[in-house]
Amino acid sequence: MKTNSFGDTGLSVSVLGLGAGQVGAGGLGETEAAAVLNTALDLGITLIDTADCYGLSEERIGRHLRARRDEFVLSSKCGHDVPGTQDWTPENVRASVERSLQRLQTDRIDILHLHSCTQDKLADGSLVDAMDELVSAGKVRFVAYSGENEHLVAAITSGRFASVETSVNIADQWSLHHALPLAQEHGLGVIAKRPIANAVWKYDTRPDGVYGEVYWDRLQQLSLDLGDDPLAFALRFSAFAPGVCAAIMGTAKVDNLRRAVATVEHGPLPEDQLADVERRWSQNGQGFDGQV
Ligand SMILES: NC(=O)c1ccc[n+]([C@@H]2O[C@H](COP(=O)([O-])OP(=O)(O)OC[C@H]3O[C@@H](n4cnc5c(N)ncnc54)[C@H](OP(=O)(O)O)[C@@H]3O)[C@@H](O)[C@H]2O)c1
Repeated sequence: MKTNSFGDTGLSVSVLGLGAGQVGAGGLGETEAAAVLNTALDLGITLIDTADCYGLSEERIGRHLRARRDEFVLSSKCGHDVPGTQDWTPENVRASVERSLQRLQTDRIDILHLHSCTQDKLADGSLVDAMDELVSAGKVRFVAYSGENEHLVAAITSGRFASVETSVNIADQWSLHHALPLAQEHGLGVIAKRPIANAVWKYDTRPDGVYGEVYWDRLQQLSLDLGDDPLAFALRFSAFAPGVCAAIMGTAKVDNLRRAVATVEHGPLPEDQLADVERRWSQNGQGFDGQV
């Protein structure tokens, strides 16, 4: 699979990463989770993204990939929901990372993101100081920020982060236009999350209460012609968008993972399709902000 350098970090990542949110679902069996995680590596994926708050995800990565730890770049997130600590505090960051390392059965997290805090939390600096201390202690390799809009821009221009994770897809292009050029200028790695817009094209009518509902509305407004292979259209758009190092598609299904890997082998969308996305976005997407 194609690989990209990851900003100025010296890391290299496969253009398709695995978003391991879905692997954390309690309803998913252990055998299925193990199959998705191992198949990802078998197929050449070298970036796995998880978070402290993704259910069983970290635990399962530890259980099923401990022996293959050197085969992939491990991305996780921190900042909230650790019992006994206040959200967005240095204590929370430290406790979260200790818990993640234990669950992941590893001695290091390669990329540690602050998980979508607002820019006022960043301005204080103590959160990132705590992350830097974890780097000095060898528990984290690179400090990163996950988020959108003005908060993301503040993080990129702060000079304190090696990389960012943000939404990039056919229905969510704010970062693509406003933040990724800045990230490139500052030498940051970029992980594109939600790269297939949560596959909302699969709903014939407006879904209610699903993650990605807003994307369903946007796709109606954009009237994009996704052709007979919407997955390919969506994934080829985001994985090869300018400035994106890796697109982390989420899945709990080995078949969908295999399809995604085969899809990125086709490279970017043809120029005429890209031009059509661009035209429709400039006509109807200008008011759409980045979705966390
Ligand atoms: N930092 C953050 O705040 C944040 C926020 C959101 C996501 N993330 C990360 O980004 C990753 C990806 O984001 P995401 O999962 O929200 O969005 P996504 O990758 O755009 O969409 C994932 C969804 O698409 C479905 N899907 C995959 N292949 C499909 C196919 N061929 N046909 C139909 N449906 C298909 C998956 O269901 P199946 O399981 O059925 O395949 C899953 O529900 C997450 O796993 C997580 O690691 C981070």
